[in-house]
Amino acid sequence: MNLWNRAMFISKAFLRSKLLLVAFLIVMNLGLLFVLHVYRNPGYPGSSLVASHLGSHKHGPFYNQTSDNPSRYTYMGLLTLPTSDDDVYFNATRLLVYRLNHHPKTKSQYPVHILVMKGVDQWKIDRLCKDGAKIIMVDRVRTEDLVDEGLSIAPGSNRYEYMFTKLSVFEQTQFDKICILDSDLLIRKNIDDIFKTPYTFTSPEAPDLEQLPLFLKPGDEEESQFGDDFKSYGAAKEEFYPYLVAASDDRNPGHPTPPEPSETFNAGLMLVHPSKLHLHRIKMIARYPFMYDNARMMEQSLLNLAYNAHGWFPWTRIDFSYNGVWITEEDLPYIRAAHGKFWEHDNQEFPPILAAEWSQAFGEMNAFYNYEGGN
Ligand SMILES: *[C@@H]1O[C@H](CO)[C@@H](O)[C@H](O)[C@H]1NC(C)=O
Ligand SMILES: *[C@@H]1O[C@H](CO)[C@@H](O)[C@H](O)[C@H]1NC(C)=O
Repeated sequence: MNLWNRAMFISKAFLRSKLLLVAFLIVMNLGLLFVLHVYRNPGYPGSSLVASHLGSHKHGPFYNQTSDNPSRYTYMGLLTLPTSDDDVYFNATRLLVYRLNHHPKTKSQYPVHILVMKGVDQWKIDRLCKDGAKIIMVDRVRTEDLVDEGLSIAPGSNRYEYMFTKLSVFEQTQFDKICILDSDLLIRKNIDDIFKTPYTFTSPEAPDLEQLPLFLKPGDEEESQFGDDFKSYGAAKEEFYPYLVAASDDRNPGHPTPPEPSETFNAGLMLVHPSKLHLHRIKMIARYPFMYDNARMMEQSLLNLAYNAHGWFPWTRIDFSYNGVWITEEDLPYIRAAHGKFWEHDNQEFPPILAAEWSQAFGEMNAFYNYEGGN
């Protein structure tokens, strides 16, 4: 019988038969069972490490000192290493910066920072600075750096090799709220009101074990569920509040307008309150990709487990117009940020008008900078 393997994994057998377990415990007369099943990985970083890394974290509902100051709000993009010579993502990142910094209809009152992966060409960094972006250099985080040795992840393209680098947004604690955007977002209308999304102050009474997703641990026959082990994080649950991870519902091609609420969010645009403690928790979860779909959707799979609607830290749903994925003709008038590879003119995944919009927007950007002074 498979009960507790590690504090993080709760087996479905246990969940199905709590009553049976009680009877079983009485019969077995305790003791040995706990020794066997409340097993912790001896290599786990314990509280001392966490405390020294994070200092004394004063957020939490009992202190309520978390600052929420608009002068500490920012948009943030990520520029990764190119996977080909014609780095179209660099162009797309420039367009994102232009739309947020300059374009009359879409420009924001908040600054734009770009997390630039170490190793990106200097001329690209210089160009983004000229475009008005502020640069934050970040280390590359390879998927293998976070995942426990020997555990596999879904094979993705090169482009995804460093996608966990996006998690360094949680390290940028000089900001109170960060709207992190993928480069393939075309800003169509001003989205500054996203920053009004409040923090989550209160914890659910308990995770909903009926609803939390199931997974199969390698070598196991019974399905398990993820459960937070706050001892292994070295922090009490209360210290994780308030927090903020807000995003739009993920959806499928041909969805209705507005889309139906979904179990999962799309990680292409998120509003987060950076927190080293939350990052620590995310990294602990990241070690076991079998819990999050073998990272099939990379950081999106991971974050959808960490901020699952039925766990201790549910994500906050924001309007679908902030992140238009699988846009339909009917969605179009509402979409404030359109998500897709609109530079691919024969791509059938979105209304063709968006390819035209992207080209026009890119042309406007080039015209703007030419006019500005020949750079
Ligand atoms: C903390 O502050 C927020 C916002 O001001 C408020 O909604 C919340 O109730 C406060 N929590 C506590 C425990 O005082
Ligand atoms: C990126 O934009 C430049 C013009 O600014 C253009 O010459 C280049 O072809 C574009 N690259 C791609 C991959 O589209």
